[in-house]
This record gives sequence, structure tokens and C-alpha cells, in this order.
Amino acid sequence: MKNIVPHHFSISKEQRTQQKGHGAFLIWFTGLSGSGKSTIANAVEEALFKKNIHTYTLDGDNVRKGLNNNLSFSPEDRTENIRRIAEVSNLMIDAGLVVLAAFVSPYAKDRANIKNCVGHTNFVQVFVQTPVEECERRDVKGLYAKARAGEITNFTGVNAPYEAPVAPDVQINTIETTVEEAVVIIMNCIAKRLGRESGIGNRESN
Ligand code: ADX
Repeated sequence: MKNIVPHHFSISKEQRTQQKGHGAFLIWFTGLSGSGKSTIANAVEEALFKKNIHTYTLDGDNVRKGLNNNLSFSPEDRTENIRRIAEVSNLMIDAGLVVLAAFVSPYAKDRANIKNCVGHTNFVQVFVQTPVEECERRDVKGLYAKARAGEITNFTGVNAPYEAPVAPDVQINTIETTVEEAVVIIMNCIAKRLGRESGIGNRESN
């Protein structure tokens, strides 16, 4: 970008990671509204926290109240929503955190851009694959009923598309898999990435 000259700070990502004693990367949860993304992300964060891993969770309903409160659910605004989250996640990875992000993120190209932004080695994609009929049956927030009644336009799964990931790192069917089982599957998938450069925080805190 014109007239922008990056400043090189003396503490590197490697040093921050070394200090924390574990790898830093992004676990991205994609799936329909009400599929269970935030519930599973929350349970994974609890499991990581118990292992003294430094974490942070970003989720659609929260971020859209603040940073992204000027964005709608049009395709363009969803793309911008995901772009900003990817950039924020990238900063958090640089800070040495394991970032958990739960966003519908219905477009394959937007999810591909996240991977480019944070780097493919820092990206773990979890597809929370709950069928729309089941999300609608649960309808925790009452949004499917509103969408069916025509009160919400562009509602993913009802009158807006969801492009399922073709090769996610993890796929969880929440009809067949409990939250506890999902945590074990995801923890196994990220074990290598967590690494433990220094052994700091290797003990469970409880
Ligand atoms: S995304 O498509 O841009 O990734 P995001 O995850 O931030 O969506 O926000 C989705 C949440 O916003 C849903 O869980 C739901 O609670 C709410 N929501 C409100 N309107 C819509 C809509 N038209 N489509 C999907 N989710 C919606």
C-alpha cells in the first residue's frame, strides 16, 4: 500500500510462541446457524484452557455487535465480515494465541481466503455438519421460523446458500457425535500443531 512503511518490532512471533510454550493457529468452525459451532468451539476452548493453552474465541453473534456492526448478510458483507475476522485472527496468531472462530462462512471462496490470510499451516477447518432440518427443528434462536415467515431475507439454509466444505480437516455430525466426542476428535487433530516447544503449560491445571 502506498506511503505505508512497515515497522519491524524486535519481538517476533517465534519469541512470543516460545514464551507461551505452544503453537499458535486458527481453528475455524463453519456450518449453518444453530448447527452447534459455538457450543463445540466453547467446549474445545475449555479443554485447551485446562491445558494452560492461551486461547481466544471469536463468534458471529458477538463480533457482529461490535467490530462488524456495520455489515449485513448480503454476500458482499459476509465476505467483508470473514475478511476482517481472518485479519483479526492473523493478528492473534501473531500474538501467540490459539484462535477459535465460529462463523457461518457459507462461501467456499471466503474460507479459501482465510487460509491464504493466516497461512495454510495455521488453518484448521472444522465443518459442523448438522443438516438444515435438524437446525430448523432445534431453532434455538427462533430465526428459522422468522426466515420461513419471510421476516428475514438472505437466511443461510432457507433463502441463501451454504457451500459445504469439500475437504475439511474435521467433520462433525452433531446428530451422531456428542460435544464431548467432538472435543476429543478436534483435540487429536490439533495435537501436533499445539506442539510444546518448552514444556511450559504441559500440566493440566486441575
Ligand atoms: S456469516 O455468514 O457472515 O459468516 P455470521 O457467522 O457472522 O454469518 O453470523 C451468523 C449469525 O447471525 C447466525 O448464527 C444468526 O444468529 C444470525 N443471523 C441473522 N441473520 C442471518 C442471516 N440472514 N443468515 C445467517 N445468519 C443470520
